[in-house]
Amino acid sequence: MNRLPLRPLLVVAATATALAVLGARAQTADPERGALLYTNHCQSCHTSEVHFREQRKSKSLADVRAWVVRWTVELELDWTGEEVDDVARHLNERYYQFTE
Ligand code: HEC
Repeated sequence: MNRLPLRPLLVVAATATALAVLGARAQTADPERGALLYTNHCQSCHTSEVHFREQRKSKSLADVRAWVVRWTVELELDWTGEEVDDVARHLNERYYQFTE
């Protein structure tokens, strides 16, 4: 009789823990996952040359991120903000090297 009300509490606690973990992960973008996502979804079209060509369009990390968003929309990839960050960070570390 006493046990029933406990269950929702446990669910809430578990959800809160999961969210805390996700929140913590979001703060440390993962360029390795970004590299995988990029290889799988983006490299079919352009070689990496597009990121260091002389006339490259990105002038800041925010630009790179905006391009990533643009392409995920174009390709209907439905990435989370975290995944967009991972790819932007990967491209920045690998090619652009903008400081934030
Ligand atoms: C349909 C082909 C195609 C696909 C798929 C594609 N791109 Fe591109 N991308 C291009 C072309 C073409 C340009 C150059 C556009 C320009 O110069 O105006 C470009 C430019 C970019 C740039 C800007 C480069 C610069 O000048 O700094 C970034 C960043 C980029 N793409 C990221 C991505 C990412 C991330 C994905 C996967 C989610 C992706 N692209 C998928 C064709 C593609």
